[in-house]
Amino acid sequence: MNILLVGSGGREHALAWKIAASPLTARLIIAPGNPGMAALGELRDVKPTDVPGLVALAREVAADLVVIGPEVSVEAGLADALEAAEISCFGPVAAAGQLESSKAFTKAFCDRHSLPTGAYAVFEDAGLAKAGLAAFKPPYVIKADGLAAGKGVVIAPDLATAEAAIDDCLAGRFGAAGARVVIEEFLEGEIGSMFALCDGKTSMLFGGVQDHKRAFDGEQGPNTGGMGTYSPAPVFTPELTEQIRTRLAEPAFAGIAAEGAPYRGVLFVELMATKDGPKLVEFNTRFGDPECQALMLRLESDLVPYLLACATGQLDIMPEPVWRDEAAVCVVLAAKGYPDAPEAGSEIKGAEADFGPDVVVFHAGTRRDADGTLRAAGGRVLNVCARGPDLRTARDRAYAAVDRIDWPEGFHRRDIGWRVLGR
Ligand code: GLY
Repeated sequence: MNILLVGSGGREHALAWKIAASPLTARLIIAPGNPGMAALGELRDVKPTDVPGLVALAREVAADLVVIGPEVSVEAGLADALEAAEISCFGPVAAAGQLESSKAFTKAFCDRHSLPTGAYAVFEDAGLAKAGLAAFKPPYVIKADGLAAGKGVVIAPDLATAEAAIDDCLAGRFGAAGARVVIEEFLEGEIGSMFALCDGKTSMLFGGVQDHKRAFDGEQGPNTGGMGTYSPAPVFTPELTEQIRTRLAEPAFAGIAAEGAPYRGVLFVELMATKDGPKLVEFNTRFGDPECQALMLRLESDLVPYLLACATGQLDIMPEPVWRDEAAVCVVLAAKGYPDAPEAGSEIKGAEADFGPDVVVFHAGTRRDADGTLRAAGGRVLNVCARGPDLRTARDRAYAAVDRIDWPEGFHRRDIGWRVLGR
């Protein structure tokens, strides 16, 4: 098969790593990709939001399947355009993508279809939003309605911080994505990321991961897109997993199909395991980053048949995926200043060494000079991933590799997996 993978981050590097390993893959084309992915496929310089360019590329390479990595491609309507061009696509149409691209849509969707989630209120006016805080208790959860590259969420400990976050959002910090602000109830419990595949009709769960969202050790510092992950995560007991399937994933797929947008792709259910069962924190309409990286290290099954089955309505004939009986950890190396103002351009040495069979370093925001020098070119720059017979071994292997990478301008957390291993 000829497969076109769209995206350029660590998530897409991990997907490319699994897709390239499949005996079904004849040719892998990646648009635009990153330097770490160059050894796995052909990189083509087309942006993830350039829908006509990507459809033309899919035609040019006779793609049998297009795999959408990032949410911006979903929002831009890539799946819709590919459907019109009769090209199979793993990734939902834009109407279904509203489950990520509008938090206000998702909360109202939860009301319409009785999905458990926290209380919320939506505002376009800063004065009304500030008055609306009275209905909530601290910490206040303030979110930009639209896509904000993981930066649109503030957990405010007090009223002053919450009001500043409201002003910031409605004053245009996130452009059109911040034209509405959503205030949400803070949910108490343990957070988890569960993935579910759907082909428009049939669905199946596809692994659980735990993410660390704060920038610094001890869950300190600003919220980020994710600083590290591990899988399996003990929070996903069989009971909780079943509740996630029946109370969140399946009703979401049924609901969005009933609203005229059958879901084809992966749904990322970010949930809080509360004393009353799982409650939805957010949906994302693509694999998580860096959740996907840990998941791909544990996935024993060939990924490609699952992607194809979602795209072609054949998930009902697929067996449950097989996971390695091992743990996997992903440690994110970010540029100093991330998430607000990451410093770009610094040189990274030692990231492409041979770290052994159980360690993989995925590139996220890197670029390569003509002379081969690797440099930082984003906020989250590298994902050092490892697996092992247990979480401690996997984590030790990951940090041993991290310590061999020479990049003084980067930082990372040292406590990935603390909920299981302690600090
Ligand atoms: N790690 C969270 C996300 O991918 O949105």
